[in-house]
Amino acid sequence: MYRTHTCGALRIENIGEEITLAGWVQTVRKFGAITFVDLRDRYGITQVVFNESLNKKLDEQPLGREFVLQVKGKVIERSSKNLNIPTGEIEVAVSDFTILNKSIVPPFTIQDETDGGDDIRMKFRYLDLRRNTVKKNLELRYAVNRSARNYLHEKQFMDIETPFLIKSTPEGARDIVVPSRMNEGQFYALPQSPQTFKQLLMVSGYDRYYQVVKCFRDEDLRADRQPEFTQIDCEMSFVQQEDILEMFEGLIKRIFKDVKGIDYTDIVERMSWDEAMWQYGNDKPDIRFGMKVCNLKTPAIVRGEREDQSALINEAGFNVFDQAETVLAIAVPGISEYTSKQTDELTDWVKRPQIGMKGLVYIRCNADGNYKSSVDKFYSEERLKVIADAAGATKGDLVLILAGAEERTRKAISELRLELGERLGLRKKDEFRLLWVLDFPLFEYSEDDNRWVARHHPFTSPKPSQIETMINNAPEISDPAAYLEHPYAGIKANAYDMVLNGNEIGGGSIRIYQRELQEKMFAALGMSPEESKHKFGFLLGAFEYGAPPHGGIAFGFDRLCAILGGSESIRDFIAFPKNNSGRDVMLDAPSTIDDKQLDELSITLNVKR
Ligand code: AMO
Repeated sequence: MYRTHTCGALRIENIGEEITLAGWVQTVRKFGAITFVDLRDRYGITQVVFNESLNKKLDEQPLGREFVLQVKGKVIERSSKNLNIPTGEIEVAVSDFTILNKSIVPPFTIQDETDGGDDIRMKFRYLDLRRNTVKKNLELRYAVNRSARNYLHEKQFMDIETPFLIKSTPEGARDIVVPSRMNEGQFYALPQSPQTFKQLLMVSGYDRYYQVVKCFRDEDLRADRQPEFTQIDCEMSFVQQEDILEMFEGLIKRIFKDVKGIDYTDIVERMSWDEAMWQYGNDKPDIRFGMKVCNLKTPAIVRGEREDQSALINEAGFNVFDQAETVLAIAVPGISEYTSKQTDELTDWVKRPQIGMKGLVYIRCNADGNYKSSVDKFYSEERLKVIADAAGATKGDLVLILAGAEERTRKAISELRLELGERLGLRKKDEFRLLWVLDFPLFEYSEDDNRWVARHHPFTSPKPSQIETMINNAPEISDPAAYLEHPYAGIKANAYDMVLNGNEIGGGSIRIYQRELQEKMFAALGMSPEESKHKFGFLLGAFEYGAPPHGGIAFGFDRLCAILGGSESIRDFIAFPKNNSGRDVMLDAPSTIDDKQLDELSITLNVKR
């Protein structure tokens, strides 16, 4: 037997017991003739003490960091206790030891605060995974996984695996493809999600399906994106949107309870996509704080039925506002006394290429009731007050205003709001606010491809009242700049996203389940009947054999874990992640393959090796 206990198990009750431990040497400290070792495993750290009688053996077989060590000895009470760790009241008086394996000096310290940079830790990820902080993240991931599975099992969902080698039907991201040796010149694609399979399972009658499943997407990577990531993927039959929202609020609340001990009793807020864009400039708003957007000036098509506020700012001779398509403001609480250096810094911030604004206008709502702005030349103090009031500002606030083209300005004000929320400490890591964003647009116009693409995916059903609009209008666009005028721009989908603290943690929809409507949808996306048959003939065929009404959702499992763990980056919650260029630096993948392998696959490369 290698061990009788783990390094996290021994307590004061074990005093006097003869035990055996095995683990890794965290530290070796010599005090005179006595040697102290912290022995570590997955469960904790135990201090083991070598007295003088073992010095000869220690001289012959010196210990080093990360050696795998087995010790036999007796549990004794510690004279100076360490109450910060569960084993801190005891230590083990070693009677004998065996070095099970040596280690060369690790490239960084295996501690919470390590001296290793990102790259080196990723290269030696198996050592990084020994660190307590990383281990905690994986434990949290496992806890989320267990909680989700328990909930879904109780609700009669069945875990069914679906294939990884499938057909390439790029939509949204690029596919990652795999050549087939047995079918010369042909390729599989790895699934971007099991979307069509879970729909087929509904046709087969498995009315509650789930899978914790890998998805593969070749897209630009960010802190919250990996080329392979995991979804908690779910589908249900005989449901309407409301049934789905209720079921999966339940799932997330259960995860909160099991993993964080949080009773999320609040009603999960709901907001239409239109409202989210209008009030926050963003379809995944962080509602932990207010600072809502004030729409001072917007194109009529965006404004819809809403009141036009442009009279507040127009005709003052300030060209920037007069000529802008959109003018948006936020009232930032309590920072009216920002120095000009600070407002200059904010101006530089919005001018960065990622934000892309030309400048920033501000109004100080001073504590003494005065209003001062960077555009005093054009606006009287009374007018500044009216504008500040419209933005919801009170004494002590600083109103920040951006002007420019609709899409860019809305995105910029949203970023600015989040940045200030962060700077003012309003985005608290231990506060969790869930939100459903509903009624997404069915289509999105792709300027690159000059066509409509499905905003969620092509299997999402339009709002029933708008099906006619979709069927009766052709997708062609004569003037791409005026795409918002096309009837497709206003069609909404039965689609929903779940947003947690400003992150999209899940998304889904009620699906199309009739062949005819699905064909119309493919046509709206510019697919010929032949093309849709070639790509999705299997699904269209299945819809002819009694497809039930169905809908579903998929949660970004890595993202959910990262947010629950208080981290920005999903990489910290994946055992073996890729870096931002999609590389596994430990494996050094992707890499070239042998000529023999290429020959077998009948592949000739177009690049020099
Ligand atoms: P969607 O594409 O919205 O929906 O994905 C669902 C959720 O998966 C997460 N996610 C990612 N996480 C990490 N890295 C990525 N590259 C990445 N891409 C997406 C997000 C997202 O909310 N089949 C549909 C779901 C459905 O309709 O049921 C789908 O995949 O958190």
